[in-house]
Amino acid sequence: MGTRESNEQAGGTGRRALLGAAVLGASGTILGPIGTARAADARHGGGRGLKGLPVPTVIGHRGASGYRPEHTLAAYQLALDMGADIVEAGDLVPTRDGHIVCRHEPEIGGTTDVADHPEFADRRTTKTLDGVAVTGWFTEDFTLAELKRLRAIERIPANRPHNTLYNGRWEIPTFEEVLRWQDEQTRKRGKQVWIYPETKHPTYFRGLGLGLEERVAKLLRRYGKDRRNSPVILQSFEPTSIQRFSRLVDNPLVVLLSGANSRPWDFVESGDPRTVADLITPKGLKEIASYAQGIGPTLDLVIPRDGSGRLTEPTTLVRDAHRAGLILHPYTLRNENPFLPADFRKGTDPDAYGDVFGAYRAYFATGIDGVFTDHPDTGLLAREEFVNN
Ligand code: G3P
Ligand code: CA
Repeated sequence: MGTRESNEQAGGTGRRALLGAAVLGASGTILGPIGTARAADARHGGGRGLKGLPVPTVIGHRGASGYRPEHTLAAYQLALDMGADIVEAGDLVPTRDGHIVCRHEPEIGGTTDVADHPEFADRRTTKTLDGVAVTGWFTEDFTLAELKRLRAIERIPANRPHNTLYNGRWEIPTFEEVLRWQDEQTRKRGKQVWIYPETKHPTYFRGLGLGLEERVAKLLRRYGKDRRNSPVILQSFEPTSIQRFSRLVDNPLVVLLSGANSRPWDFVESGDPRTVADLITPKGLKEIASYAQGIGPTLDLVIPRDGSGRLTEPTTLVRDAHRAGLILHPYTLRNENPFLPADFRKGTDPDAYGDVFGAYRAYFATGIDGVFTDHPDTGLLAREEFVNN
């Protein structure tokens, strides 16, 4: 396996160039000169930015969320312990008093024990979030002190019944706590820890007077992580959020892309008629490359599925994005049957694992630069298999 940098030095980004530049240990740990160099980078507080990352990069989605309630320090920690190259810490939303916390959505009824707190019963409400009516409890209606009284629970217990064992153990982390944790873990491990935070619903929150990007940028500056080679990749489904970041900080930036027929919510609000299908044309990708370094497409934009959920032929997105100078980190590979293409399901149990290694083989073969996964240990084994065959 190589890094982006070593692949380029080897004269190509093809699979042959990925082989032999480093050796993976059984746990997915990088051994040899690359690992040594990264440890030295960490000691000196520097780094080679995106080019120093292993390819394909394994990104712990919301931590190791296949094994622990998502967006907890325990989920982030386990992702690192498993060897994930980057931890998606976290999806970012604001509190009423302007702090930034890690939750996948502002609505927290499904990921915390807020429903068990009678003192917050009257905060339950219905709001229109990006055009959709959502009922529950919202981070923007709580102070940070109030949110800290809650505990995380498993979001999808039907698929992950074992994870409910951990319900109630961990609090909601703030982004500032994540930045400190990143530094502590980097020191402890002698290896630079990377994170991949995402702004959630930035137009919605700006409308509430809780703009995300300035607050995130301020924290990045405070911790010296706002530079081109800083180990923090910023992502958003709203291109204008990424454009805003491009004016505030120098971090690597990634535009997330949902289904081809969807429209980013900031486009809807501003009257921009373009859909994701427009953004993934060579013209659209070239424009993204003027302010971002990568895209994070849904896996279906890389290999579409047919009506029965089976994979069809890969699109030209990988080639087109690379031609525009963009890397691709698609989302999300999960081990359980319901989340896999039909080709790779084994039986119908919603909590049983399918042939996820088969799915990895198909997606890695397209030339993607990395992937978000809820199960980083599985992703690392799949990468090992991919680069050694
Ligand atoms: O950030 C990649 C992926 O996380 C985007 O999807 O909905 O899980 O935030 P989501
Ligand atoms: Ca995310």
